[in-house]
Amino acid sequence: MPNIIYVIAIDGPAGAGKSTVAKRLAAELGFAFLDTGAMYRAITLKAMREQINLEDEDALAALAKRTILDLKAVSAGVMVVMDGQDVSKDIRTLDVTNNTFYIARAGQVREILVEWQRQIAGRRSIVAEGRDVTTVVFPSATHKFYMDASVEERTQRRYKELKEKGQDVDINKLRLEIEERDQKDFTRKVGPLKQAPDAVYIDSSRLTIDEVIETLRRYIGL
Ligand code: C5P
Repeated sequence: MPNIIYVIAIDGPAGAGKSTVAKRLAAELGFAFLDTGAMYRAITLKAMREQINLEDEDALAALAKRTILDLKAVSAGVMVVMDGQDVSKDIRTLDVTNNTFYIARAGQVREILVEWQRQIAGRRSIVAEGRDVTTVVFPSATHKFYMDASVEERTQRRYKELKEKGQDVDINKLRLEIEERDQKDFTRKVGPLKQAPDAVYIDSSRLTIDEVIETLRRYIGL
């Protein structure tokens, strides 16, 4: 009997808790973890550093093609190594966050990243999270989830997270940024965020991380 290869795909808007949940679920099940957003962020960072015109899709695709990205599993989650340099922290700045939509809407870049994501997954069990992993990257995933939470809750979570990092932010501005990012994720022409018809909808607004993981494991049966 061949071993089953599990592909657990989780999509959802920014701040719904996908990353935390996916990371922990992967660790608990002994599966690989794929943070697809980190890849969009890394390409954004490189384009900003090289002062590429973010509106120039051909230039962005050329840049992606000459990039070597490596996502290494570490105890804290994932270490993102781009062209030999650890950029794990640099890809999480507000500037990068606000500019990722240029990369995310570039169809040619998405094609390249989707191909890498499938290669990284290879033939092993994996937990992948992002915006299009249930619809485009892994349409035949063994388990699909759409993780959501109210805008209020997602704003509060992000606010707390930034506060804990010592960053002082205006909560109203933060809420607007989240709404803006949602709007861009939902409406882009390629790889927009949407719930796959066969994905289980999970509203994490009133659930703890443990409760979400428990729910997912019940569906997965592991
Ligand atoms: O998940 P994270 O917030 O790190 O993703 C950063 C950005 O990358 C998102 O706002 C989204 O626009 C983009 N993204 C994407 N497709 C994915 C993952 C992320 O377009 N699969």
